Amino acid sequence: MRMYDLILKKRNGQALSKEEIDFFISGYTSGKIPDYQAAALLMAIYFQKMTKEETAHLTLAMAHSGQVLDLSRIQGVKVDKHSTGGVGDKVSLVLAPLVASAGVKVPKMSGRGLGHTGGTIDKLESIPGFQAQLSEEEFINNVNTIGMAIAGQTANLAPADKKLYALRDTTATVDNISLIAASVMSKKIASGADKIVLDVKTGSGAFMKSEEDAMLLAREMVDIGGSVGKETIAVISDMDQPLGFKIGNALEVKEAIATLKGHGPHDLEDLCLTLGSYMLVLAHRSKDVAEAKENLLAKLQSGQAFETFKRFIAAQGGNPLAVEDPDKYLPQAKETTDLKAWDSGFISRIDAEKTGLATMLLGAGREVKESTIDLSVGISLHKKVGDKVKALDKIATIHYNDPLKAEQALTILKEAVEISPTSPEKRPLVFGIVTP
Ligand code: URA
Repeated sequence: MRMYDLILKKRNGQALSKEEIDFFISGYTSGKIPDYQAAALLMAIYFQKMTKEETAHLTLAMAHSGQVLDLSRIQGVKVDKHSTGGVGDKVSLVLAPLVASAGVKVPKMSGRGLGHTGGTIDKLESIPGFQAQLSEEEFINNVNTIGMAIAGQTANLAPADKKLYALRDTTATVDNISLIAASVMSKKIASGADKIVLDVKTGSGAFMKSEEDAMLLAREMVDIGGSVGKETIAVISDMDQPLGFKIGNALEVKEAIATLKGHGPHDLEDLCLTLGSYMLVLAHRSKDVAEAKENLLAKLQSGQAFETFKRFIAAQGGNPLAVEDPDKYLPQAKETTDLKAWDSGFISRIDAEKTGLATMLLGAGREVKESTIDLSVGISLHKKVGDKVKALDKIATIHYNDPLKAEQALTILKEAVEISPTSPEKRPLVFGIVTP
């Protein structure tokens, strides 16, 4: 078999066989197939697409490209959650301790930022001392004792995805249904949870811009989960504007902590309650979503979810003082500048992708695989879509360390925001649920 022939076949619109997909994944993982040929195939897939069958083969080949974790030593039903990526999406930081405090086991493998979207591991690393690299033993032990752990994808967990993820990020081949489905589900299969809840984002800041594409992606992933015996439910949620008010690593951790203390933004809290409810139902901890929501709300209000978060951070080496007093201990940018309303009216748009790009430009995300990121920088919104503004009201604050970058970010942020004379139509937070 030759990689050249696979590229040609896909370029010409034909479906690849299981053997051909296995050949590509094992050759690319071992380094026999170079990046330039893999990139060419990705671009051919991007334009010619894959059938459902090809996507399922790709997912399994990627899942088995390394170790498949055996979590059978964790007692109880293990439920994982994964987001297809958004801006200001700090859901995992709130959701995992919230659901764990209600008795569900959450063994979570998370990633780093991709494109204009942030990553849970980068965010957590803004807590001094936090360790995302855990041994299998530590990971299992923490889930058994605390109810949760969040670890970075180890080198040997779906290594094909690790390489392809970075390659897609730099070759404009991220936003393809089959490639996203295979990337997400290969990691979920390899990381060993019994059941999966997916947060599939749609809107300007999501890889799937239209609700229709988000539904197709969700269906594809729910079906793949079912085919390997892992019951999967997908929630289609809005990512047309950033989630919550904070975008940027340390800023998002602060907002997550506020939410766990019961005074977070409504959209973030609501989404966590919705996703968490499905996790409780999948784990047979609640009989239905309504009962599960009540249960979770009680965990939030009683402080039990916050207590679980503190234990989880301490168990992974994080400074507990940073959780109690994040303003004092989390990295903070040196300077701030404001975006002020240039007119009176209603905020009719805060384009999530542009806001994410502005945050990346400040240094919160990676331009190339090897970039180091600035955990302190980011954007605080003061207004959300639908809010009334008067001219010169503060719309957002940019937290920066480099004035040149702040200037560029301010220009993009200004393009992201629209003010109109009338109130815009309200978009739902949740568009739908895809079940098996
Ligand atoms: N999240 C993933 O894990 N993979 C993708 O391709 C996109 C979002």
